[in-house]
Amino acid sequence: MTSQHVYDGKSKRVYVKSSEEIVMEFKDEVTAGDGAYKALVPGKGVLCALVSAHLFRVLEDSGISTHFVEYDGLRSITAKKLKMVPVEVIVRNYSYGSLLKRMPLYGELDPLVPPLVEFHYKDDSLHDPLILPEDILRTNILTSRELSRIIELSILVNHVLSKHFRSAGLKLVDIKLEYGFNSSGELLLADEVSGDTFRVLDENGRHLDKEVFRKTKNTDLLLKAYQELATRLGLRWEVVLSTKIFG
Ligand SMILES: Nc1ncnc2c1ncn2[C@@H]1O[C@H](COP(=O)(O)OP(=O)(O)O)[C@@H](O)[C@H]1O
Ligand SMILES: [Mg+2]
Repeated sequence: MTSQHVYDGKSKRVYVKSSEEIVMEFKDEVTAGDGAYKALVPGKGVLCALVSAHLFRVLEDSGISTHFVEYDGLRSITAKKLKMVPVEVIVRNYSYGSLLKRMPLYGELDPLVPPLVEFHYKDDSLHDPLILPEDILRTNILTSRELSRIIELSILVNHVLSKHFRSAGLKLVDIKLEYGFNSSGELLLADEVSGDTFRVLDENGRHLDKEVFRKTKNTDLLLKAYQELATRLGLRWEVVLSTKIFG
């Protein structure tokens, strides 16, 4: 790769390709428990890049602006370089995970209608703390117009993906979204959309997402779940994984 390596994240390596574009290389590492558990899962990077590219295309086809530019068919996605909003938006359709811990009156997988939108300040050292919409405004991270736009976009992304998963017999439990501004000040959906960033259940209530690793710490089971997710979305991952050397 000729482009400059600028950021080594938990799940991706980011390279600057030009003043306008970055390349996100999906790693085979998986982390859980705020980085307390780490493991190598050969094939995971390809599967997450494949699923992410597919879902960005689904979203673009529904008229949602994303940072997606192109997919190399392996583990790298070229995307528009953005000024990232340091906030993670979580949209929840069913109660699960940290929501159950902070609000015990929810039962596991209770439907949340309309979906619950949550904000976290993106800071690993603080464990991405939950913040209020008001915190985002008072600290000038976003204007109220921009915040309204992010909420509107997140509800829409959740709606489009829920529908797409439903047609594959899958249930979207919750999803974490990140956004950034392009050079014209437009808000675009960024980062990734994969089993690392959403929870999705099959007809039997089986997770096809990172929850498998959080619960079992078993990398083979995680790989199987990610392969199943890609298959269910109609993606041909076998060819890529059987012909390429991963690392
Ligand atoms: N289009 C984009 N432009 C610039 N930065 C981006 C873009 N999309 C995602 N990012 C950032 O790149 C990094 C991706 O690597 P990741 O492994 O997810 O990192 P992290 O450990 O910080 O979550 C994240 O910090 C994410 O916010
Ligand atoms: Mg990340």
